[in-house]
Amino acid sequence: AAGVGTTAVPLAGCGLFNKETDTVGNVPFDNRLKIPPLAEHTEKGGAKHFELAAAAGETEFKPGGATATWGYNGSYLGPTIRARRGDDLRFTVRNHLEETTTVHFHGAHLPAEMDGGPHQPIEPGGTWEPEWTVDQPATMLWYHPHPHGNTARHIFRGLSGLIYLDDDASDALDLPREYGVDDVPLIVQDRTFDGANQFDEDEDFSSSTGIHGDEILVNGTYGPYFEATTRRLRLRILNGSNARLYTFGLSDERDFQIIGSDGGLLSAPVTAGRITLSPAERTDLVVELRPGETVDLRSYPVEVEINSPFDRNNGLDDSFDILRIRAADELADSPEVPGELIEVPSLAAEAVAAERSFALQSPDSINGESMDMNRIDFGTEVDTVEEWTVRSTDGFQHNFHVHDVQFQVASLNGEEPPAHLRGWKDTVLLEGNGEAKLLMRFTAYTDPDVPYMYHCHILLHEDQGMMGQFVVLGHGEDVGTVSAPSSGH
Ligand code: C2O
Ligand code: CU
Ligand code: CU
Repeated sequence: AAGVGTTAVPLAGCGLFNKETDTVGNVPFDNRLKIPPLAEHTEKGGAKHFELAAAAGETEFKPGGATATWGYNGSYLGPTIRARRGDDLRFTVRNHLEETTTVHFHGAHLPAEMDGGPHQPIEPGGTWEPEWTVDQPATMLWYHPHPHGNTARHIFRGLSGLIYLDDDASDALDLPREYGVDDVPLIVQDRTFDGANQFDEDEDFSSSTGIHGDEILVNGTYGPYFEATTRRLRLRILNGSNARLYTFGLSDERDFQIIGSDGGLLSAPVTAGRITLSPAERTDLVVELRPGETVDLRSYPVEVEINSPFDRNNGLDDSFDILRIRAADELADSPEVPGELIEVPSLAAEAVAAERSFALQSPDSINGESMDMNRIDFGTEVDTVEEWTVRSTDGFQHNFHVHDVQFQVASLNGEEPPAHLRGWKDTVLLEGNGEAKLLMRFTAYTDPDVPYMYHCHILLHEDQGMMGQFVVLGHGEDVGTVSAPSSGH
């Protein structure tokens, strides 16, 4: 292992906080990559019924003793939910923790009362039973807790899982799709282990964005390797970290093909050598392998502007080994990635019914206001297109996530976004003082009293209140008032 050396860029005056977190070359890669199991389901009245239970447990990540962790149906992370467009889904979610949690379906288009945000708490010992019909393109979503003020800690302890959605359009394409074999999910998280092998949950005060761990877990595997058996390997990567940005690339800098973004496949593959993901963002990419070779997935220093005189570099200068890929001596042939993928209808040609703007300001506000569970910030009208202008106004990087919808990035810092950001997105990275214009259409209205969230997905910011609430209204309907959150029993 070599290639990238230490890349620390000391900032003047910040030597105190400039700890060494470059792990390239130090990772043993001696643990087989864990693949989250596919969740089992039963059929009930035509619906697929899944059970999830959040509980505390212990996980062996590395020698030196087990780590106290949380997980769904296991001690760390959760099973992958696999479903198709058109499926009726039902969940029974149980909370075996000693505190209130929620399960949010990030990126899913669903009724607000099924969203699993802060208004759908599940008390200790309680149960919650959401259901909805899948009506969105094939992609990889994820689920995670969203209790207001506690999301960072709940996710950090291990509560996260994936949702694979399939549809006819993606099935018709010759893409790698054997789960865990040539279609491999990677949940990438940074953690610091203390001397007793426990997660270090202390906020990193060298950064205003929250915890940055100095070691990487992939699907809860420390130092992972994957044995590839096919010539083309599809990697679906989730940045499942609280705060850290990654710029993924291969150790020999070879190109790969990006085929999808947060909310679906792109219209055509994009050839690239690097891709940056902020927390909650996903990418879907295909790497070509040669028989018998070894190549590492790595995170390179992130190339974004943060323009901040007083913040540390937020770990932006760190490089990490992520995953070693060992290709078998004989690889099963796989077809070339099709030159055209799916049709992504552009919202840019449509009339904009409402424009809104959002100024994200550390530590805790959007447009000068902090999240208030009892305040609905606005209502959008169903089936109209809105343009949201989202800005970082404090020089820090933030990212912006909207519930219920997949949006299109119309511009980034006044320019056309790069090709890999021209598909469906639910989370977008803003550079320090950066600006994104987003186009979106909400296609179903529900209860004017039950809001969806929009927020910065840097979890410390979200917990501190960089979040707001909206509802999707029928024509002529008014914003309601938030009723006391109903709790699950
Ligand atoms: Cu990933 Cu509001 O959530
Ligand atoms: Cu979400
Ligand atoms: Cu933020």
